[in-house]
Amino acid sequence: MPLVTSKGMLLDALEKGYAVGAFNANNLEMAQGIIQGAEEEEAPVIVQISQGGAEFAGLEEMASIVTLLANRASVPVVLHLDHGVDYAFSMKCLRAGFTSLMYDGSLHSFEKNVAVTKDVVRAGHLVGIPVEAELGQVPKDPDSCSFEELKAFMTNPEEAVSFVEKTGVDSLAISVGSMHKMKTRSATLDIERIKKIREVVDLPLVLHGSSGVTHESVQEAIEAGITKINVYTHIAKIFTMKVREILTENQGMADIRKYLAPAREEMKKEVIDKIRLFKSQGRAKGIKEVEVTPTKEETQDIIE
Ligand code: CO
Ligand code: CO
Repeated sequence: MPLVTSKGMLLDALEKGYAVGAFNANNLEMAQGIIQGAEEEEAPVIVQISQGGAEFAGLEEMASIVTLLANRASVPVVLHLDHGVDYAFSMKCLRAGFTSLMYDGSLHSFEKNVAVTKDVVRAGHLVGIPVEAELGQVPKDPDSCSFEELKAFMTNPEEAVSFVEKTGVDSLAISVGSMHKMKTRSATLDIERIKKIREVVDLPLVLHGSSGVTHESVQEAIEAGITKINVYTHIAKIFTMKVREILTENQGMADIRKYLAPAREEMKKEVIDKIRLFKSQGRAKGIKEVEVTPTKEETQDIIE
């Protein structure tokens, strides 16, 4: 089916108490593994390309691959920009056919984060595309931050209310105890903080850095209101481990199909595990498109 936006998908998850898996793809085989896994589980799915991933594989290249696979898929698929860090790049993604954007201004001051997010939201909404933003910081690397230091970067519920009001975002990535690029599953989340934010922010909440979070804590986070969960490091690790295993056992192997096919299959199994953990299996049929319409303020031309 044609690509859908993340709006209706995440609202369905919010209403029914599950989370949509948002998996990063950096090449054809990852995109195939993700979508095949979702099809086997009849799960809605978000395939996301980070700005860094687009620099690696090509933005239009990845957009074409995911769009083609989505058109053929039996489940709804969203093509999402993960960690867009500038306005100009977000516009290129809109042109390339992305159906969901993230603007990550978490390294900026609150004011600058609000200002750029608002611009991206306005542009997205004018063409019917929803936008995720980040408030608080989910550290980019576990080596750069200790769990003690992480507390200072966690999302403040009152700030979240003000951020959402000022920007008009459709979903919010929050910092509640996870970090990006963790290769061991040892972090537990601040579940009380998620509940507090959920009480005051009536939007889908997004968890980044899930690869380092214990499965039990992920389940509690979903019950507390997390509705989109990003997964990259763990599936990348599974893919790479399989390639390494095969090449270690077969030093002379040259045919790339012989190691990429098993790696894709292994990664697909992991996607299926995550879909079950997130309770999104069998939810594909319930997804309805929800139109994203700009507010009156967003349609107003800016004339000083
Ligand atoms: Co992230
Ligand atoms: Co696993």
